[in-house]
Amino acid sequence: MQLKAPRGTYDILPPDSQKWQYVEKIVRETARLFGYSEIRTPIFEYTELFERGVGDTTDIVTKEMYTFQDKANRSLTLRPEGTACCVRALIEHSVYGGVMPIKWYYNGPMFRYDRPQTGRFRQFQQFGVEVFGSNSPYLDAEVIMLLTGILEKLGLGDFELHLNSVGCPICREIYRDKLLAHIAPARERLCADCQQRYEKNPLRVIDCKVESCREAIAGFPNIFDSLCTDCSQHYAGVKASLTQNGIDYIQDHNLVRGLDYYTNTAFEIHIPKIGAQSAVGGGGRYNGLVKQCGGPDMPGIGFALGMERLLLALDNLTEGQHSDSYLEVFLAVQDEKWASQALKVLDRLRKAGIRADRDYNGRSMKAQMKYADKLGACIVVLMGENEVNGGFFTLRDMVSREQQEVSAEDLIPRLKDILA
Ligand code: HAM
Repeated sequence: MQLKAPRGTYDILPPDSQKWQYVEKIVRETARLFGYSEIRTPIFEYTELFERGVGDTTDIVTKEMYTFQDKANRSLTLRPEGTACCVRALIEHSVYGGVMPIKWYYNGPMFRYDRPQTGRFRQFQQFGVEVFGSNSPYLDAEVIMLLTGILEKLGLGDFELHLNSVGCPICREIYRDKLLAHIAPARERLCADCQQRYEKNPLRVIDCKVESCREAIAGFPNIFDSLCTDCSQHYAGVKASLTQNGIDYIQDHNLVRGLDYYTNTAFEIHIPKIGAQSAVGGGGRYNGLVKQCGGPDMPGIGFALGMERLLLALDNLTEGQHSDSYLEVFLAVQDEKWASQALKVLDRLRKAGIRADRDYNGRSMKAQMKYADKLGACIVVLMGENEVNGGFFTLRDMVSREQQEVSAEDLIPRLKDILA
């Protein structure tokens, strides 16, 4: 038996889990500020959803899916991403019959069978948003502002926003022809995967990381030159709106993204200091996806943030920033004969909303003080012989080391005062 988490997965133990909770709180609160509500979908879906939704020539579908047969021989797949799942839920529950646009956010595990390295896992967590039912370029800008707003709130102002437009199916067809003509003379030099991509989906060749492919397509045509009037105007609207709101971006015509559903706006956020896997988030418009999956013709846009990569970027998160997970009060009990009284005191504190704990391993008073320090308690409430007989408590401030006595009735208000 291997007592090891499977390759590409990991455990999150305390105190690291507190950092996760802090980041999750910020992303949720920010999404709510922008009018989003939470959606939760299953972590596995019928395989066909991703084949159709994400695209059967993408790396995700051809190489990275965790696909299995269930006992009734159905092909199921652990979700590699959240957009297709939201689209499926939208269609299944006919949510599009209600008020538009629909703004959803989600936060949960995704699965991709890729080669693990720093910032790349086989089970990873995404916080994502999806908006259905509007094609306004101002919405594109707002979605990007939600993403950059989250990063700013987390103190991660050192990001790069890469922006592109991948057009609509009409202009993409024109671009496809130009691209094929450009690549054709160098076709022999493409890697085995790109030989196939050349046939089925040449835009994917732009995304290939193999050096010989990059050389073979060097100087490839710019997609901006192929955009139709509507797509150019949409893209100009997004850029103008970002500029008006003080959001800097880098126009990046190499940016085609690893999923097939994108139309028009595509974007990625990079934080270079975290290393090779510097993309902390990415997204874009997918105006054809709902229809392609069997729903009505309805535009959509969204993004997903890789939570592990965010946490990597936040490696120097100071403890104060997530201090609400620490203990506020430690109850030091001198003798176990007061154990049941102590439990009542703890109960009063917790019911008053004070994070409190005590020792259950028979430590001496001195050892309990050390333990309280380790737990990060701000105040120790002492319960010794004098206190129990006199009906009061002694409070010790763990920073200044000052002590004060307080009556049993005043305990909670006094603690609240100090902790405020
Ligand atoms: P994606 O670019 O494939 O987009 O993933 C979004 C983010 O998830 C990446 O930027 C990265 O931070 C993180 N990520 C992806 N794969 C891994 C991995 N193996 N290990 C750790 N982190 C990873 C999507 O998934 C789209 N569904 C985003 C979207 C939503 N587009 C529109 N709506």
